[in-house]
Order: sequence, then C-alpha cells, then structure tokens
Amino acid sequence: MKTTHSHHQKEMKPINRKALRAMRGKDFLNTTHYSREQLEALHALAFQLKHAHLYGSGTPPLLEGKTLAMVFEKPSTRTRVSFEAGMFGLGGHALYLDAQKTQMSRSEDWQDTARTLSGYTDAIMARVYEQRTLETLAKYSPKPVINGLSNSLHPCQILSDLFTIREHFGKLEGVHVMYSGVVDNVAYSLALGCAQLGVDFTLATPRMFHTNQAIWKQAQTIAKKSGSLMQHFDSMPPAKVLKSVHVAYTDEWESMHMKLDKAKLFPTLSKYQVNEKLLAQCAKGAMAMHCLPAIKGEEVNSSVMYSKHSLVWPQAQNRMYVQQALLVALLGDLDSKSSE
Ligand code: CP
Repeated sequence: MKTTHSHHQKEMKPINRKALRAMRGKDFLNTTHYSREQLEALHALAFQLKHAHLYGSGTPPLLEGKTLAMVFEKPSTRTRVSFEAGMFGLGGHALYLDAQKTQMSRSEDWQDTARTLSGYTDAIMARVYEQRTLETLAKYSPKPVINGLSNSLHPCQILSDLFTIREHFGKLEGVHVMYSGVVDNVAYSLALGCAQLGVDFTLATPRMFHTNQAIWKQAQTIAKKSGSLMQHFDSMPPAKVLKSVHVAYTDEWESMHMKLDKAKLFPTLSKYQVNEKLLAQCAKGAMAMHCLPAIKGEEVNSSVMYSKHSLVWPQAQNRMYVQQALLVALLGDLDSKSSE
C-alpha cells in the first residue's frame, strides 16, 4: 500500500479503556479537561484505528447509526473532511452546516441551535469565533460538543499533532517542540498539550503579539506536574536552545479572525520562518510541522514542506484517526464486540 507515513512507532501500549470510558458523553472543548492518561489512551486507540484502516481488517463500525452535526462559522478543509470521512469510516454519518446557511444567519441563537441539533444528532462539532460560543453549545446540548477551533484554542489539532510526534519519534517524553511565529489558537493548544504530555515547549513570538498570560501560566502550572520545560522568547531563541529542538512548528501569521499589515511586518516575522536553515540549527533529525493551510514564503517555505524533514502531510492525515478515537470515546460503546 502506498503511504507517505514514517513508521518509527511500531507498536502502542494497550488501550486504557477505563480512562476512555470516563470520557463517554462529555464535551471536548480543551485538552486540559482531560487527564494525561485519557490523552494517552486516545493516542493508543488512534494508533489501533489507523493500523486497522491502513494495514489490517479495516475500521470497525464503532459508531454505526450515530450522526455528528458539524457547524462552521469559519472556512475549513481538514477539520471538515477528517471529521466527515472519520464518521463515515466508523459506520456513522456527519452533516456539514455552514452557520450562515442556517437560521443563525437570521439571528436564531446558539442556545436554540444547541437544543435543536442535539435532538437530531449524537454530537455537535463546531468551529466558531468565540470560545464562549462552545461553552453555550455545551451548556444547552445534552450531547457532546467538540471544539473544531475557536479564536482561543484548537485542541483537536494538537491532540492529533502530539500523536504524529509520538508516531515519528517513538515517544513524547524528552521531545522538544518549538512554535515560532505569531502566537495563536494553535500555539496555545500546543503549549497546553505539550505541558500535559511531558513534552518540552518553546514559544518564540515577537513581543507585539501579546501572549495570553492566563493560558501561558496555566501551561506552566501543568508542566510542573509533567516535568515539561516551558520557555518563552520574544525573539528567535539563541543557538543553544535551538540545538535541542526536535520539532519546529509554525502556523499562518494571520489567523482567520485577524488582519495584519503583512508587508510591513514581513522583515520582523520572516525571522521566525520554518525552513531548512532553521532545521539545520536544531537537533539532528529535527522535523518541520504546520497545521495547514500554509502561506508558502511567509511562515514556512515551500521546500521544507515537501522535504524529508517534513511531518506536515502525516500530520494532516492523522487528524482523521485521532478524531475517530475521540468520537469513539465520547459517543461509542467501548465494550461492544466490534471494539475488541
Ligand atoms: N488545520 C486545520 O484546522 O485545517 P482546516 O482549517 O482546513 O480545517
């Protein structure tokens, strides 16, 4: 079978079903709402689902008859398709709702939308501007609500990216991830996720992009328990820090809710670009990551994205398997025969 994946990770430890069972019926608005054991268990299940799909007996129909409503206030390629294909693969169904094509465009509110959608479907995944919109959905929906990105956080992305890092390096502990560029929802979820799972994390972002201190402090507090080293720079870090970086991660300078004068900022921001020159200053075997979409020539260059030092494509593909694991934990029956 043709695959672009690296396979440094050959096997995964057994799935902690007890940890996953405790997630049943809950919302997934932030990785921090779950324990390290639960995030690890999701990775273990995702590993099993990926291998069953690509090399084994196929994806088990763990969500047969289940429907996921997917509401989008913002554009999406990966989140939409990975959730939809992921539900289909598990024997379920997903429906795409452009918020502007629903009655919300005529001022029906999120409360009534949550009450209505949860009457027809088994879960709601939403991509929204405000994190509090997700909290409203969660408050009024008796069914699980999943954060498909807000201005503040992108937890599904990072749960999946940490899986990709584990898959490539064969471990998470001792891995050092650096995010460089404009601090955003992805960077915040990355800081929190790394802190939870014992990954060292460096944030390098120009001072003009104020880092949300509440989230950064939360990440530091979590890191004290896991042992992650958390560092924050308002310039590119010095050579001795770069030398220990295994993953150079970046994201678009301009998030979907932002408007920047990119021409004016280019001289400052281009110093944070993820490219081969940066990887050459990092640890041996360092890899580039980007959640996509990318603006090639800005935060990342084209050649590194398609090089053997890129995890960008397995990173995109793994979204589906990790979200399938999440959906199974929130909606499925882990004790059913087909889950064995
Ligand atoms: N990375 C990510 O969330 O991609 P989309 O915006 O295409 O969903």
